[in-house]
Amino acid sequence: MPATKIVVNIPGETPYDVRIGATVLAGLGASLKKLPALSAAPRLLVLTDANVGPLYLDAAASSLKEAGFRVSHITVPAGEEAKSLAVAGEVWNAMAALSLTRDCAVVALGGGVVGDLAGFVASTYMRGIPFVQVPTTLLAMVDSSVGGKTGVNLEAGKNLVGTFKQPAYVCACISVLDTLDEREWACGCAEIAKASVIDSDEFFFWMMDHAEALRGRDPIAVTEAIARSVVFKANVVAEDKTESRGVRECLNYGHTLGHAVEALAGYGTFSHGAAVAEGMRFAARLGVEVAGTSEELVAAQDELLDALGLPALAWSAPPEEMLAAMKRDKKTRAGAVRFVVPRDIGDWELVSVPDDVILAHLRAWEAGKEAAQ
Ligand SMILES: NC(=O)c1ccc[n+]([C@@H]2O[C@H](COP(=O)([O-])OP(=O)(O)OC[C@H]3O[C@@H](n4cnc5c(N)ncnc54)[C@H](O)[C@@H]3O)[C@@H](O)[C@H]2O)c1
Repeated sequence: MPATKIVVNIPGETPYDVRIGATVLAGLGASLKKLPALSAAPRLLVLTDANVGPLYLDAAASSLKEAGFRVSHITVPAGEEAKSLAVAGEVWNAMAALSLTRDCAVVALGGGVVGDLAGFVASTYMRGIPFVQVPTTLLAMVDSSVGGKTGVNLEAGKNLVGTFKQPAYVCACISVLDTLDEREWACGCAEIAKASVIDSDEFFFWMMDHAEALRGRDPIAVTEAIARSVVFKANVVAEDKTESRGVRECLNYGHTLGHAVEALAGYGTFSHGAAVAEGMRFAARLGVEVAGTSEELVAAQDELLDALGLPALAWSAPPEEMLAAMKRDKKTRAGAVRFVVPRDIGDWELVSVPDDVILAHLRAWEAGKEAAQ
C-alpha cells in the first residue's frame, strides 16, 4: 500500500508534509534529510516515553542514523504526568547538557503527551528549534500532531502553559498502532467521529460505511480515516492558527460535557475518547432545542459512535455538579457555558446556553441513565 502524503499549508508558516502509511517510520531519516530546515542538523534529539521507547525507539533511531544524523534520546514517564513544567525542565537541562544548538531538532516519538511536551520544549529551548512529530497513537495521528498546539499542564489545569509551533514534518506510521490497546484506539476513533460530524456529509457518511472496518483496524480504512482527519484539522487550523477567530472552537465538539465527565468521574475512569463521545451525544441532543438539530442527526451519530465501540456511558452525576464542573472549565467565558452544537452534519455553531436549559438536559441525561439500568 503506497504512503499517503498531505501537505499542511498554514498562512505564515512553512508548509509541512504528513506522511501516512505502514512503512513510513523506516523512511523517517531519508524524509528529514530532504527538509532544508533539518538536513544539516548536527544532532536530533528523540523524545519518547517509557512505553513507546522500548517498542519503537530502535526503529526510529536506526532510520535517522542510516540517513546520517547523530541521534540522542530522552525517555520521559508514560502518561499525562509527563506534561509538566518539572519534566520540561529536565528535558531543557538534558538538551543543554547535550550542547544542542539552534540548528538541532527534536523528534517527538509517542502519543499526544510526548508530542505536546516535545513541541513545548522545542519551541522554547534557545527561543525555538525545529521539531518533528512521529505520532504513535491514533489520537495523535488524527489530531494532536497537526496544528501546532504544544503545552504542559499546571496544577490549576490542563494545557495552561504552551505555545503555537508547527512541526517541520509528521510521520504517521500505522504499523505502530498494532500495539495500541482498545481504550486508546477508541480515543482516536472518537476524535475521528467528531471531525466527521463537523466536517461534511461526505466524511460522515464515509465513516458510517467504514466504522466496522475502522474498529477492526483495517489498514486501508485506518489510513483513509487518518488522512481525512488530518485534512479536516489542517483546514481548520489554516483558518484559525492561534484560536483567535472562533473557527478552531469546532474542535471542542463533545468536549464541554466530556471534560465534566472526566473531572467528576475521576481522571482515568473513562478514557478521554469515551467522555468526548458522551459529550457529542449530549451536545447533539441539546442542539435539537437550541440550534434546530434534527433527531435524524442525533440517531445517526449514536449509531456511528456505537459502531466505533463508543457506547453511551452507564454513568451519571447530579446535574448541578455537572454544570458546576462545566463552569470551571477554562473554555467557559463570563460564566456562560458554551457548547459546539451541530446544526447539521458539516454545519456547527457555538452556543452560549442558559443554565436552566443545560440543567433540564442534564436531568434528562441523568434520567436516561437511570432508566437504562
Ligand atoms: N496539541 C493538540 O492539538 C492536542 C489535541 C488533542 C489532544 N492533545 C493532548 O494529547 C494528550 C493525549 O494524547 P494520547 O491520547 O495520545 O495519550 P498518551 O500520549 O498518553 O498515550 C496514551 C498511552 O498509550 C501509550 N502509547 C503510545 N503509543 C503507543 C503505541 N504505539 N503502542 C502502545 N502504547 C502506546 C502511551 O505510552 C500512553 O501510555 C493529552 O495530553 C491532550 O491534552 C493535544
